[in-house]
Amino acid sequence: MYNNILSETSDSITTITINRPSKLNALNKETIEELHTAFAKAEEDTGVRVVIITGSGEKAFVAGADISEFANFSEEEGAELARKGQELLFDYVAEMGTPVIAAVNGFALGGGLELAMAAHFRIASDNARMGLPEVSLGVIPGYGGTQRLPQLVGKGRAMEMIMTAGMIDANTALEYGLINHITAQEELLPLANKLGGKIMRNSPMAIAAAINAVNAGYENAVDGFDTEIEEFGGCFGTEDFTEGTTAFLEKRKAEF
Ligand code: COA
Repeated sequence: MYNNILSETSDSITTITINRPSKLNALNKETIEELHTAFAKAEEDTGVRVVIITGSGEKAFVAGADISEFANFSEEEGAELARKGQELLFDYVAEMGTPVIAAVNGFALGGGLELAMAAHFRIASDNARMGLPEVSLGVIPGYGGTQRLPQLVGKGRAMEMIMTAGMIDANTALEYGLINHITAQEELLPLANKLGGKIMRNSPMAIAAAINAVNAGYENAVDGFDTEIEEFGGCFGTEDFTEGTTAFLEKRKAEF
């Protein structure tokens, strides 16, 4: 039924697995659309009490948006990419009434970290690496990263992560409050299911209301999401963006 993801439900928990391991589970357009469908199905099914999102393989949760797909986009297409993605997936997940746990099983970079941050909370395996490397490509995070990272780790740490384009390891992510727990890789999904089990003992209606109330406290960030879309689109008209994405696809270091 899906080309890029797997979705299975057991004991009222839906586990959605992004399944493009040869591309480190990078998010192309079709994957984002399939994820939207799978999350929407889980949200509409009252039998589903928790959703776990993870990546297939041992290396990556998601290594970002698919760079090969947007390297030639115009400014308008860039802004549209961010706007559509935020609507279909990132804001959609953040606003779901069904709790979503991200089980980060490896690299969570760019759109991958943004997807993990859109989930209601995150756990990670000890090999996980997280970062927002977009400025190394001549662009900025466009799927909510400029808003959700400072909310989770504080402004200064977010600024440093975004400006250096560096990766942090799972221990640093724990220290920053970006993830709640670290486990060995083989224990990651069992822990996500165990946490899901604890959540399920509680009222689904009250949980949905609590998610809505917690999210409401961050609503002043709404303008920030719009600014992100505008700035993201603007990057697509720059020489730095052409150089950054071309260098990645040619497997060389960008020269800005
Ligand atoms: N978009 C498209 N393809 C991607 C990708 C992305 N974001 N991330 C990885 N891939 C592809 C690679 O091009 C490669 O494909 P190929 O085998 O057809 O050449 C494959 O996935 C494996 O990646 P590779 O780079 O060879 O693995 P690595 O172990 O050497 O490096 C990373 C792993 C995560 C450090 C590296 O893939 C990377 O930097 N990815 C991009 C991260 C990024 O900038 N994300 C933000 C996008 S906005």
